[in-house]
Amino acid sequence: MTTPLPPLPPMEETLRRVKEARSLTALEALRVSLLGRKSAMAAHLRLIGRLPPKDRAARGTSLNESRQTLTEALETRKSVLTKEAREKTLVQNAADITLPVAQPPFAFGRLHPIAQAWDEMVEIFATLGFSLEEGPEIETEEHNFTALNTPEEHPARDPSDTFYFPSRKDGKGGSAPPHLLRCHTSPVQIRAMRAGAPPFRFIAPGRVYRRDSDQTHTPMFHQIEGLVIDRDCHLGHLKWVLTHFLRAFFENDAVEIRFRPHHFPFTEPSLEADMSYRREGGRIIAGGGGGGGGGGGEWMEILGCGMVHPHVLEASGLDAREWQGFAFGTGIDRLAMLKYGIPDLRQCFDANLDWLDFYGVSPLFAPSLSGGLSPKTPKGERG
Ligand code: PHE
Repeated sequence: MTTPLPPLPPMEETLRRVKEARSLTALEALRVSLLGRKSAMAAHLRLIGRLPPKDRAARGTSLNESRQTLTEALETRKSVLTKEAREKTLVQNAADITLPVAQPPFAFGRLHPIAQAWDEMVEIFATLGFSLEEGPEIETEEHNFTALNTPEEHPARDPSDTFYFPSRKDGKGGSAPPHLLRCHTSPVQIRAMRAGAPPFRFIAPGRVYRRDSDQTHTPMFHQIEGLVIDRDCHLGHLKWVLTHFLRAFFENDAVEIRFRPHHFPFTEPSLEADMSYRREGGRIIAGGGGGGGGGGGEWMEILGCGMVHPHVLEASGLDAREWQGFAFGTGIDRLAMLKYGIPDLRQCFDANLDWLDFYGVSPLFAPSLSGGLSPKTPKGERG
């Protein structure tokens, strides 16, 4: 019994299909249908053996030639398609070497303007030979008030102003001294003087806490303390240091400073210092003639200072007949707001990334008096 042979597809038409195959997959499918085990060609080849011997050679030669032609056509098309595919991937994966270099993640980060102002202040005082001191934010009442000559009935000691920890009297005779969240950086004066030996010249930046909250006050804010103790240190030195500091910080030599008498328990005499400023289109600019000078300037209170009270020196183990000096304390946040034009202090602690992106400074920028204290270029071109 013989099954009818499928006819061989016409050669010309087959070659055209091979030439027009659009992909390597399509071409491979075509090869299988033309030459594979189930193809008409394979069936014809298998049948040669059954032909009368005289016909075999001619039939064999003709079929082999067709098969050869098809194989060559398939190979040719395959190499064309392979080349096309390779070129396509090359184009797709091409690296554009004219693109800017990818930024490392830290280049997108921003330093908080308060951190930036802090660094700038440390830099200014470092160039004046001030070292850096630190103290704990959880303080004893003794360091925060008593050693600083603060009387028992002073209003700052009131729990409505200062955050106290519950007293730890355990009823078995054990007790811990009263602790609180320091309400200023002045206790660092006591700690540093007790731990070292005069002369002293240091600053102490850090967090402080007060029961206060409105547009210009937050329960936590930052202060920077300064202390200079030597044998003949006087108010003239204090005035020079503060003037230099403010002019350097605001990068403006027109900044003037004015003292007014004040009261702090830990200094005698005590002074409040005002800084000159002027308004320019709603913005406050540090510097200018100051009040009353006819230059349209005004004064703003910015810090407390004075000559260190002898009681404070004695409480820290110094002989007040031998040593004297000055101290000052100012708000880092306040000065940062003025310098960077931040309208509301509370925004500083909102953890808003868009805000930080706008007011922040590149972490790659390092403030220095020689290279520049702050990035002056407009937002977008910074660092
Ligand atoms: N500790 C004061 C305050 O917080 C500031 C100050 C510091 C005043 C040092 C005098 C001397 O207001």
